[in-house]
Amino acid sequence: MPFAPFDWIDDEARRRAAAGLVRTLRPRPAESGLLDLASNDYLGLTRHPEVTAAAAEAALRWGAGATGSRLVTGSTTLHAELERELADFCGFEAALVLSSGYAANLAALTALTGPESLIVSDAGNHASIVDGCRLSRAATSVVPHADPDAVRKALHTHGGRALAVTDSVFSVDGDAAPLGALADACRGGGAALLVDDAHGLGVLGEGGRGALGAAGLAGGEDIVATLTLSKSLGSQGGAILGPARVVDHLVNAARTFIFDTGLAPAAAGAALGSLRLLRREPERAGRARAVAAELYDRLSAAGLTAVRPDAAVVSVRAPSAQAAVRWAADCRSAGLAVGCFRPPSVPDGISRLRLTARADLTRDEIMAAVATIVATAPSG
Ligand SMILES: Cc1ncc(COP(=O)(O)O)c(C=O)c1O
Repeated sequence: MPFAPFDWIDDEARRRAAAGLVRTLRPRPAESGLLDLASNDYLGLTRHPEVTAAAAEAALRWGAGATGSRLVTGSTTLHAELERELADFCGFEAALVLSSGYAANLAALTALTGPESLIVSDAGNHASIVDGCRLSRAATSVVPHADPDAVRKALHTHGGRALAVTDSVFSVDGDAAPLGALADACRGGGAALLVDDAHGLGVLGEGGRGALGAAGLAGGEDIVATLTLSKSLGSQGGAILGPARVVDHLVNAARTFIFDTGLAPAAAGAALGSLRLLRREPERAGRARAVAAELYDRLSAAGLTAVRPDAAVVSVRAPSAQAAVRWAADCRSAGLAVGCFRPPSVPDGISRLRLTARADLTRDEIMAAVATIVATAPSG
């Protein structure tokens, strides 16, 4: 019998099943009837009529696809408009739009560092940052979570090009990075600071302008931000914001920008529609934060262990991966969709339910969600 090259997959699948870590796709219908606390649609914009109309209009005008990479045929005046408005809204000199937030992190990390550089990366950073560090071939020092002193110490060991990278709001626990202290540590060590504001845009800062604006760091000559257009803006795509010379460099050097088809016009149009809507309705940002705080208060008062949210993500601890899966399934059976984070998506091995606070949740929906989560909670 010849060697079967994929037999190892069955062994891995058995190990995964024994640990309660099997992942399966569950295609949802357009109308699921579930109360949604699982998506990243923080501002409730993905189905907003103005946003879907902007997507449709862009597709009708520009076509279904961008037709090429940005440097060939894939840059439209719509992309340029989105870049101008994003940079202006968040307080940066320039912006570059890419096909995803994942691609944005890979682009920034690989093009702004190299084999001679040091990257100092928070232990809780998103997988796309971890992958960007690996792809950059820079020396990477992974420092304890939210620890500016550790960043300072790591930077002291290196004399050349250096960059520290952090999520602004960590996707697993919803806690915020100490951006002011991190920027001080970077400035003391001659390093740039790269901040992934995927969970801050639309939720933090004045009218949702993001965590960097809130920290007084937006537009700094040593500050670069990455964004996703797929959470608060309810669309798809990513962006990098920073000084114009950094963005010009990325256009010439970032492989996930250069060798990737431009963002689809419908996605660019929808993101622009959301951005304009957010300018007109800035109260959506504060409402998302208030819903998160209320969910946290009510779940904690019921005896569950949750992390006090700094933005719109509320993380509730589960006793084990299996218990987390069962808990999420019980919520679903009761009509509530919640996220379930387990290894390898958690840096510390602790499984959680992950709830997202949407700005458009009503008081009744908040009360119903809390009642379901509490009633289905595992004992112990
Ligand atoms: C912190 C963070 N960065 C980057 C990404 C990737 O963004 P995208 O989904 O647009 O690729 C995500 C989630 O999707 C995220 O949570």
